[in-house]
Amino acid sequence: MEFEPVKLNEFEELARKILLKKNYDFFRGGAEDEYTLSENIKAFQRILFRPRVLIDVSKIDMSTSLLGFKMAAPIMVAPTAFHKLAHHEGEVAVARAAAACNAIMVLSFSSNCTIEEVASSCDAVRFFQLYVIKQRDVSMKLVKRAESNGFKAIVLTVDRPRLGRREVGLKNKFVIPKFANLEGLLSVNVKSKGGSDLKALPSATLDDAVSWKDVEWLRSSTKLPILLKGILTAEDARKAVEAGVAGIIVSNHGARQLDYVPASISALEEVVRVVSGAVPIILDGGVRRGTDVFKALALGANAVMIGRPIIYGLAAKGEHGVKQVIEMLQNELELTMTLNGCPGLKDITRNHVQTENDRL
Ligand code: FNR
Repeated sequence: MEFEPVKLNEFEELARKILLKKNYDFFRGGAEDEYTLSENIKAFQRILFRPRVLIDVSKIDMSTSLLGFKMAAPIMVAPTAFHKLAHHEGEVAVARAAAACNAIMVLSFSSNCTIEEVASSCDAVRFFQLYVIKQRDVSMKLVKRAESNGFKAIVLTVDRPRLGRREVGLKNKFVIPKFANLEGLLSVNVKSKGGSDLKALPSATLDDAVSWKDVEWLRSSTKLPILLKGILTAEDARKAVEAGVAGIIVSNHGARQLDYVPASISALEEVVRVVSGAVPIILDGGVRRGTDVFKALALGANAVMIGRPIIYGLAAKGEHGVKQVIEMLQNELELTMTLNGCPGLKDITRNHVQTENDRL
C-alpha cells in the first residue's frame, strides 16, 4: 500500500515495492561486503552538533553558487546510470525536477536519455559526467556534445578504472536491458561483444590505463571547467589542484567500487585541509538528511550531491518524486540551520560539529 514519504529513506521503501528486485538491487547495491556502503550512512550518524542559541534565525538563506552558477541550496544531483530502469521518462524527468528546485544536475555518461534530450527538456545549469574510455575519440565527442548543448562543466569520474565487484548483481545475473542504450559507438561495442551484461560493458569501454596525463589532455581539449570525482586522499587532492581542475568531488562512488575505503564524509577533512580553499569541494555518499548536508558543510564542503534517493524518488513518483526528494532535503537543511543558529551558509563553521576524532 502506498504512503506519503516524510523522509528520504521512505522513498527507498516505495521504490523497493515498485521496482523489479534485480533493478532495485542494482541501484541499492555496493561493492563486495558493502562495508563502505553502510559506513557512508553510519559515519554521518557519529557526527554530532554543537548548536548556538539566541541568534536571530527568522530568515534563513541557503542560496549559494558553484563555479559562478547559482543554486537554491548547496544540494546537487549526482550522476547515476540508467534512469529508465527506474522510470520510463528517465533522466529527462530528473532534469526537470532538478531545474524546478534550482539544483544543479550532473548527467551520467551512462544515461538512457541523450545529452540532446536532456538539454532540450528544460532550461537549467547542468554538468556532464565523463569517463575517459579506451576510445578517446568517443569521450571527446561526448565532451563536444555537452559543450554545444550548453552543459557548464565536465565532471570527470576517476575512481572506476575497472568496475567494482557488486556481488548482488552477479547473484541476480543482472543485465542491462536493450532500451538502456549507451551513447554512439559504445552501444556498438557492447553489441559486438554479443551482449550487454556488466562484464561485456567495461571490457569494451573502460580503460584501466587512464592517468593524470588524461586530465591534462582533457583540460587542453575543452574550455569547460573540469571537476574530478572520486578523490579520497590528501595526496590526490593536491595533485588535482596542481593539475588545474576547477573542483574536487570527494566520493567513493556510492560505495560501489573499492570496498573498505572510508565513508566519504570521513575522508572530507583531509582533502579540505590540503585544498585550503583553492577550489570548491563537493561531497557525495550517504547524504540522506538535511543534517547530513549541514555536517558536510561544517567539515568544509561547498556542496553535496545525492545519488540513490533521486533514483528512488524517480521510481516512486517520476518527476514529482524527484522534486519531493530535493525539496525535502532543502527543507531539512533550512531547519537544521535554524536550530543550529546559522542564518546563512557562511555562519556554518567547523565548531558546529563534533566528530569522533574530536571526542578522543
Ligand atoms: C552511481 N554513481 C555513478 N557515478 C558516476 O560518476 N557515473 C555514473 O554513471 C554513476 N552511476 C551510478 C549508478 C548508481 C545506481 C549509483 C547508486 C551510483 C555514483 C554516484 O554519482 C554517487 O557518487 C553516489 O551515488 C553517491 O552516493 P549515494 O547518494 O547514492 O549514497
